[in-house]
Amino acid sequence: MTAPAEARPAAAASTGTPVLELRGVSKRFGAVQALTDVDFAAYAGEIVALVGDNGAGKSTLVKTMSGVGPPSSGQVLFAGKPVSISKPTDSVALGIATVYQDLALCDNLDVVANLFLGTERLRPFRHAGVIDEIGMEQTALGLMRELSVRIPTVRVPVASLSGGQRQSVAIARSLLGDPKVVILDEPTAALGVAQTAQVLDLVVRLRERGLCVVMISHNLADVFAVADRVVVLRLGRNGGDFRVGDVSEDQVVAAITGATAGGGRRAGLPSTAALPAGGPTTTEGARA
Ligand SMILES: Nc1ncnc2c1ncn2[C@@H]1O[C@H](COP(=O)(O)OP(=O)(O)OP(=O)(O)O)[C@@H](O)[C@H]1O
Ligand SMILES: [Mg+2]
Repeated sequence: MTAPAEARPAAAASTGTPVLELRGVSKRFGAVQALTDVDFAAYAGEIVALVGDNGAGKSTLVKTMSGVGPPSSGQVLFAGKPVSISKPTDSVALGIATVYQDLALCDNLDVVANLFLGTERLRPFRHAGVIDEIGMEQTALGLMRELSVRIPTVRVPVASLSGGQRQSVAIARSLLGDPKVVILDEPTAALGVAQTAQVLDLVVRLRERGLCVVMISHNLADVFAVADRVVVLRLGRNGGDFRVGDVSEDQVVAAITGATAGGGRRAGLPSTAALPAGGPTTTEGARA
């Protein structure tokens, strides 16, 4: 199980050069201003949670980092150097891996095939090459063991795995390219208590490997269980940047909702409870 925030050893401080940084990023979709002048920095060896109400701009911000939706204006820096991330292959080449909420796994294929989908290994055979099933299986086994992912075998079709196991396979797949940054979009959404704990344990192990983890979450309990820092987006703008040890859940909720962060519990605001995942958006614009 995941240790509570106060019991964790102090994680790497958010100092030095951020591995990934956004400066003054804005994004417009026609009449909808989804992001306005957003700054964001993430460092190696830390878990940064990105939180905000529905429509606050979290997915849009992540898409500016993953190359799916480049910013309309603003600067992106990787390891301190300005870069252009205009398509997904640009972010992958830099070492940014993104695990989307739909996971994009092939249900009918086994774990090994899913891990190496599109990057199958070949071994020489006569004058050609054949798919190196044994080599891929060994790598898959090693990775699953290293990450303490509990699955029956790596030859089981992913359709038969639990939600938490599927999420773990998708996260493991993102590590095969040896990334520096792993972005997780709602990794515990729709998971039960035990599966959530399993996935959060895996998120902590990514940090232990020295990776920079950016985790979108609607669940402040998850955020406070594993994150070092929490960055709040509100109505497409920066709404706060807190070290988890220095802030209460109520203060984060206040930053999300725009209420004054006063410290004391405010009537009617959720505390440890999950924030609404499907409620009305806080921006006027509708998705095109
Ligand atoms: N492709 C698009 N076309 C037009 N508007 C869009 C598009 N994508 C996002 N938006 C708008 O940008 C704003 C931010 O949306 P975004 O999906 O980033 O929010 P979010 O914080 O991820 O919300 P949620 O928690 O519901 O996933 C919203 O007003 C949304 O309607
Ligand atoms: Mg979203």
